[in-house]
Amino acid sequence: MQKLAIVTGMTGQDGSYLTEYLLNTGYKVYAGVRRISMPLSSNSNIKKFINHPNLTIINLDFLDSSSIQSFVETVGKYCSGYLKIMDNYIEVYNLAAQSHVGESFKIPTLTHQINAVGVITLLDALYYVFNKRFKFYQASTSELYGNTAFDNKNKLDEQSEFNPASPYAISKLSAFLTVKNYRKAHDIHAVNGILFNHESPRRGVDFVTRKITDGVAKYATGQNQSPIQLGNIRARRDWGDARDYVKAMHLMLQPTKEDNVRDYVVATGETFSVKDCCNLAFKKIGVTLRWVGTGIHEAAVNNENNEVMIQINSKFYRPSDVEYLLGDSSLIQNNLNWKIKHSFRDLVFDMVEHDIELCKGKERGWHVFP
Ligand code: GDD
Repeated sequence: MQKLAIVTGMTGQDGSYLTEYLLNTGYKVYAGVRRISMPLSSNSNIKKFINHPNLTIINLDFLDSSSIQSFVETVGKYCSGYLKIMDNYIEVYNLAAQSHVGESFKIPTLTHQINAVGVITLLDALYYVFNKRFKFYQASTSELYGNTAFDNKNKLDEQSEFNPASPYAISKLSAFLTVKNYRKAHDIHAVNGILFNHESPRRGVDFVTRKITDGVAKYATGQNQSPIQLGNIRARRDWGDARDYVKAMHLMLQPTKEDNVRDYVVATGETFSVKDCCNLAFKKIGVTLRWVGTGIHEAAVNNENNEVMIQINSKFYRPSDVEYLLGDSSLIQNNLNWKIKHSFRDLVFDMVEHDIELCKGKERGWHVFP
């Protein structure tokens, strides 16, 4: 029988890959999308599958509790026949969020309203409409750990201590605990994916990897020769490929063995600095960087001709930053057979290649699930 899923946040990087993956796997998907004045079809993340016959798009605004309730009730009406059959569940993937950590310092209340209160409202509405006949995936995050591993450089796993260091992380910790409480208190298959950073050609340009690959592509195609401006280039992240990570989300809602219904860390087990990412991205276009200066005066120049390629701009510093993230995803690899397919080097090269094609006016046929 055809399976049913709800995806919130479909227009973002993860939401678009996950929706595409579920549709390709034969699911019927109900996607909650915020009303905007631009036509949805102009969003390049989703235009490939927006007219898929198994996709139903419904308005959903996480800042409005009645919008969340009416969204869930609408889906409930569509699914009532399906849920009459014993053992049928609807899978819910909650990916809607204010996901920019830096911005959360400027808009803490809105961040909390969407990322924390929105999750409570959604779970409450789902429980009211579907009772226990839904499974729930929450997009949780390595930001929960803050700087737990900064001093000892240990790998972070499901047992590591949480130390949120931003309004974003605090809101996500609240959601994490809410989900855990629904699992324990109501015996619902509700789980958190503690995902470390994950990137792709669909990443927004205000996140550091895509900002770098977009800048490199504009330089390579002559669209912009001015240096890329960055903040904390020493920060280290465990960067994976979003196309691998949406498969982990799906796997987390499939187990029937009770022990495997739990929160999982999803990470690659390797860590790179923002500087490493710059070096790789420029390498892809044949430029070797040389780093000169220190602190705010640090810069990267083209080793061949001393042209300045990267500069530091304090505007991109955060009031407090997470300096070091490295995850241990052994548990999900062992319990659910999740696999990492793409390396960070391949990911950065792929993003640069994609951005160069975009600059040349070509939209590449996405290599979605190689
Ligand atoms: N965005 C940005 N822009 N970050 C910069 C810049 C810049 O110009 N310069 C340096 N950085 C540093 C940030 O200070 C941070 O330490 C690191 O690069 C990564 O920043 P982001 O790419 O914005 O990602 P993030 O780690 O803060 O958060 C992302 O990953 C989390 C974990 O999966 C987001 O996707 C979160 O929503 C997600 O929870």
